[in-house]
Amino acid sequence: MSARLVEKIIELKKQRNAVILAHNYQIGPVQDIADYVGDSLGLSVEAAKVRADVIVFCGVLFMAETAAILSPEKTVLLPDKNAGCPMADMVTADGVNQLKAKYPEALVVSYVNSPAEVKAVSDYCCTSGNATELVNSLPADKQIIFVPDKFLGQHVIDTTGRDMILWPGYCPTHARITADDINRARNANKGAIVLAHPECPPQVKACADEMLSTGQMLTFARKSENKSFIIVTEEGLLHTLKKQNPDKKFIGVSDKAICPNMKKIDLEKILWALEDMKYVITVDNPIRDKAKKAVDRMLEVIPG
Ligand code: 13P
Ligand code: SF4
Repeated sequence: MSARLVEKIIELKKQRNAVILAHNYQIGPVQDIADYVGDSLGLSVEAAKVRADVIVFCGVLFMAETAAILSPEKTVLLPDKNAGCPMADMVTADGVNQLKAKYPEALVVSYVNSPAEVKAVSDYCCTSGNATELVNSLPADKQIIFVPDKFLGQHVIDTTGRDMILWPGYCPTHARITADDINRARNANKGAIVLAHPECPPQVKACADEMLSTGQMLTFARKSENKSFIIVTEEGLLHTLKKQNPDKKFIGVSDKAICPNMKKIDLEKILWALEDMKYVITVDNPIRDKAKKAVDRMLEVIPG
């Protein structure tokens, strides 16, 4: 069944001149059929440069919106229209405008996990892969409003020494991970390096060896001479980690580290997306033009 499904998707992909982009948290079969798998930064870069008429975006709404902002001439499809991001839904453009009125001199940096309307009222966008570099590149005398992730924001404050005004949003999946989860995994896996995502709360960060985006975790694990790693992020990343490093051991930190929205897409939904050309994600002007400026400024700051 699955082999036939894969065949049909590949056939239809060719007919539609489509590419499949998938986030590192997608289920294994979706990652395996994708033309490109990556973190939010890598996916934005890919969406901006990919040559195709159609992008099937296997991720959540804000990611498909970012692709539509960068490539309005392409048809961007999200195979499940209910695949959203609860953290992105915690912030609104009105709320950001109220903060801007309170701090009129401040620059607004929005994490890419935000709605297009919020990007449109931001000066810069960032991902977990370039947030520190981006904030470091801003004039030292400028106040910064950072939305919506308070945990990533706190991590950026810690790494840059910049004071920032933080929006109180968070990722419910990463917020469920505790310091006890890490301590348990460490005790059972002596010598393992703990790689944690900056969406984790500070008490988790305090127990981690490295704070990295999902893409940075893949690079770190590939280059490291260590043989075992405790992975403190959504469990989907384990698929590619294991595939790329068959000689190394990867331990998921907790069974609770699952993002239900990232798991909504499967091979059948990809096939239906290509058959029926659904669900089309668009961002109309003037929001698109304004949001694109913030995203373009982000793409200029790629970590070295
Ligand atoms: P990255 O893959 O960019 O690290 O982001 C994690 C995430 O939560 C995306 O929703
Ligand atoms: Fe949003 Fe968290 Fe899921 Fe990422 S893992 S899509 S931040 S809820």
